[in-house]
Amino acid sequence: MKKLLEIAKENIKNAYVPYSKFRVSAVLELKNGEIYKGINVENASYGLSNCAERSALFAAYSNGVRKEDIKRILVYTDKDYFVSPCGACRQVIRELMEDDASVIMANSKGEFKELLNIELLPHGFTEKDL
Ligand code: THU
Repeated sequence: MKKLLEIAKENIKNAYVPYSKFRVSAVLELKNGEIYKGINVENASYGLSNCAERSALFAAYSNGVRKEDIKRILVYTDKDYFVSPCGACRQVIRELMEDDASVIMANSKGEFKELLNIELLPHGFTEKDL
């Protein structure tokens, strides 16, 4: 967990946040130890901004990773409180990671909060509903 936090802290500088100035960094760890990183990327058309969690997951999927390969995701902000994934990210995490995969929130004090994917979005709409 400490290693993931160090990677997230180092990479948060890459957040593209000219509008909110709110930096978020996400690190995805695969079961084989590989790492994918993501940051939030904003746009002048605000609604087109992409969160760090989705950036990390889309980078991994773009390289052929699938849910069974993923161990956990860590979400870091440089705030002294926990920031939890937004609703859109919960929906995407729910589908692109396994139900029992961990979602870890980390803050600037080095504290962690860990939840399972299924706990983050219970009663979600999934591919099973289609
Ligand atoms: N943001 C994330 O990257 N992840 C979240 O789960 C919550 C929000 C970003 C989106 C936007 O760039 C900034 O934080 C402020 O909303």
